Amino acid sequence: MTLQNDLFLRAVKGETTERTPVWLMRQAGRILPEYRAVRAKLKDFKELVSSPAFAAEVSIQPVDLLGVDAAIIFSDILVIPDAMGISYEMKEAKGPYFPSPIRHEADLAKIRIADPMADLGYVLEAIRLTKKELNGRVPLIGFAGAPFTIFAYVVEGSGSKTFSVARRMMYENPALSHQILQKITDSTILYLKAQIEAGADLVQLFDSWAGILTPAHYEIFSLPYIQQICEAVQTAPKTVFAKGAFFARKSLAKLDCQVLGLDWNMDIAESREMIGKEKTLQGNLDPCALYGSFADIKTETEKMLRAFGKTRHIANLGHGVYPDTDPDKVRCFIDTVKNFRG
Ligand code: CP3
Repeated sequence: MTLQNDLFLRAVKGETTERTPVWLMRQAGRILPEYRAVRAKLKDFKELVSSPAFAAEVSIQPVDLLGVDAAIIFSDILVIPDAMGISYEMKEAKGPYFPSPIRHEADLAKIRIADPMADLGYVLEAIRLTKKELNGRVPLIGFAGAPFTIFAYVVEGSGSKTFSVARRMMYENPALSHQILQKITDSTILYLKAQIEAGADLVQLFDSWAGILTPAHYEIFSLPYIQQICEAVQTAPKTVFAKGAFFARKSLAKLDCQVLGLDWNMDIAESREMIGKEKTLQGNLDPCALYGSFADIKTETEKMLRAFGKTRHIANLGHGVYPDTDPDKVRCFIDTVKNFRG
């Protein structure tokens, strides 16, 4: 099927586009009252994630209601540990919780390589339904967590400010850490290939906790696994978003991927200089800028667009949109990008 709006995929390839494409990380979610209405009909977050028809509905909402240039499939990075036998609960207002975290060699026996067809069929079905209902209006982004970020959750057992339990294992038992990371990596490769097969036009890896590692540990415990995934997944373009990994930009530039995400701490000109001209950059407005006035949002967004320049840029925030952001402010950001002809 030919896409009616292929700005996003053309920018991914480095082609010059009439204007910069725009979407937002975490656009399918709580900022929209229409999302909260669907969510309220269901028991909890996990039920929404595992119901393909509802997941498709909320994936498409930002396309209809905000006018973004790409949809992202509504799911979570934590479906991978779940499919590997490490189940989680999503605690209201608190976030993820793993009743049986992975801490010792003996715990390895409890985890398996996920089989996407058997264990994640609900995500694949949601992708097929979303593609069908999008009917070529915009491309669909698939995603997964980067292995280190998933490792951080399953070893820690929950979210954390420091992830010191997970980081402790990397010092105390690096061999066990690598075994866990490899199982996550193997599962993620199969999963992303299946997402593309089901219809995802691009896949994004979220290394949300990259910024808590030392540069040396990032090179040992995160990058090699991301690179394994990038090399193994060749059927669609890839975006790597390593939040906080300003220290790893030169290494990230060498990955076999087309797009790198920047967070709002990363200077745009400096990042382009370090990364070179071969990659498309995605980002990076401060999510808190959307709490400003409409006039200030326009000014800040245009400043960002000028700094990135006309090609090889996909406009986005520097991390996911915060749930208490006014949807009209989000629209202001999107419309500013769409109207900009700098
Ligand atoms: O629009 C989209 O981006 C698609 C949906 C999406 C969700 N999670 C839905 C969700 C995506 C891409 C994610 C990725 C994700 N999940 C990441 C990486 C991106 C990032 O923000 O760094 C991470 C670290 C997670 C793990 C996760 N999921 C946490 C820590 C939490 C609780 C904190 C929170 O944001 O509430 C979740 C829950 C979650 N995932 C919600 C949504 C819409 C909120 C739960 C709800 O609606 O009830």
